[in-house]
Amino acid sequence: MASSVYIHIPFCATKCYYCAFNTYTFHKEQAKAYLQALRTEMELYASETEPLQTVFIGGGTPSILSTNALAQLFIDIQQHFQITPDAEITVECNPGTVDNEKLNVMKNNGVNRLSFGLQAMQDETLKQLGRTHTVTEFLESYYLARESGFENINIDLIFALPDQKMEAWHHTLNEVISLNPAHISAYNLVMEQDTPFYEWWQAGELHIPTEDTEADMFQYTIKTLTAHGYTHYEICNFARPDHYAKHNLVYWNNQPCIGLGAGACGYINGVRYTNIRGIAPYINKLSKRNKPIANTEHLTGNAEKAETLMLALRKREGISLEDYQNRFGEEIEAAFGDILKKWIDLQLLERTATHLRLTRRGLFLANEVFVELM
Ligand SMILES: C[S@@+](CC[C@H](N)C(=O)[O-])C[C@H]1O[C@@H](n2cnc3c(N)ncnc32)[C@H](O)[C@@H]1O
Ligand code: SF4
Repeated sequence: MASSVYIHIPFCATKCYYCAFNTYTFHKEQAKAYLQALRTEMELYASETEPLQTVFIGGGTPSILSTNALAQLFIDIQQHFQITPDAEITVECNPGTVDNEKLNVMKNNGVNRLSFGLQAMQDETLKQLGRTHTVTEFLESYYLARESGFENINIDLIFALPDQKMEAWHHTLNEVISLNPAHISAYNLVMEQDTPFYEWWQAGELHIPTEDTEADMFQYTIKTLTAHGYTHYEICNFARPDHYAKHNLVYWNNQPCIGLGAGACGYINGVRYTNIRGIAPYINKLSKRNKPIANTEHLTGNAEKAETLMLALRKREGISLEDYQNRFGEEIEAAFGDILKKWIDLQLLERTATHLRLTRRGLFLANEVFVELM
């Protein structure tokens, strides 16, 4: 049973040059057929959920759907799932794709958290990233959301962008802080295969900051956001008190979550599954009332332990030794004694009274650390 649901809306106005998420150019008719298939998928999973504590409608660009389509999506969700009164319900929105009507539909259907992808506060950078909005359009959407009563808003940013200078990142971060959002996600750019950025980078046409500059940007991010009252609670995530992303904590705590939609991932009854990525095959599978699963992986004891450790170490507090023991019936050293000792000796990991967590040094080398667990 799961008490969290992720719903993937795989459409965007156009694809950003750096993005490898499962998303396609928006076509109204296709979106209509897709939402119908999604409804069938909800039916197939309805009995596997408990009253939901978190719902995350992500993408892609969920806010590209029409007001009517969004309203219907919420009807479908409410018909198939029970939702607890204090559930966190998030919708990812792109700047320039929201208006009063859409925001009201969200608000009236219990959405209490929005996440805007901004990435950078310079129009020329937004253009270089293939974004479809300007800084001004972002500000309009953000203020509209605030005026519509949304208090819990996240802003996504990316640093270590091609040609990005330290000053530009400082400017982006400080401008965003001045908007006082409840939550900020700051990701370093990942060069994803099968993206234009990757191709251009391989061809020597993109110049990304050095690792040292990237580390300096990350360091500046942590210092500045914490100085402004944001808690650094996960490697890339910062929040005002009481505004941690509850849905994302479900992932980092390796708890069950149903994933619905093309390319969505889920984790239920010890099985991790990934859905078919293509829109047409996804719709086709559901037209026969079959779950549109492309592959599954049964997490056996050791794999589940390793994933639980790796995901929990992303959190700044680290992994709770008590939670681990309660979940697996043994101390964490039973499976990971040698590797944990090595990391502690290398000062990548430290023990607090209740947790094991990355040191400051470990935080900067997190990916290298995690590779050893895979
Ligand atoms: C699932 S995306 C959807 C957000 C929304 N569609 C938008 O772009 O406004 C969530 C976030 O992932 C981040 N992201 C996507 N591709 C990335 C990459 N290659 N490297 C770093 N961050 C990335 C961006 O900050 C983006 O806002
Ligand atoms: S970053 Fe967001 S808007 Fe851009 S392609 Fe990816 S999902 Fe779509």
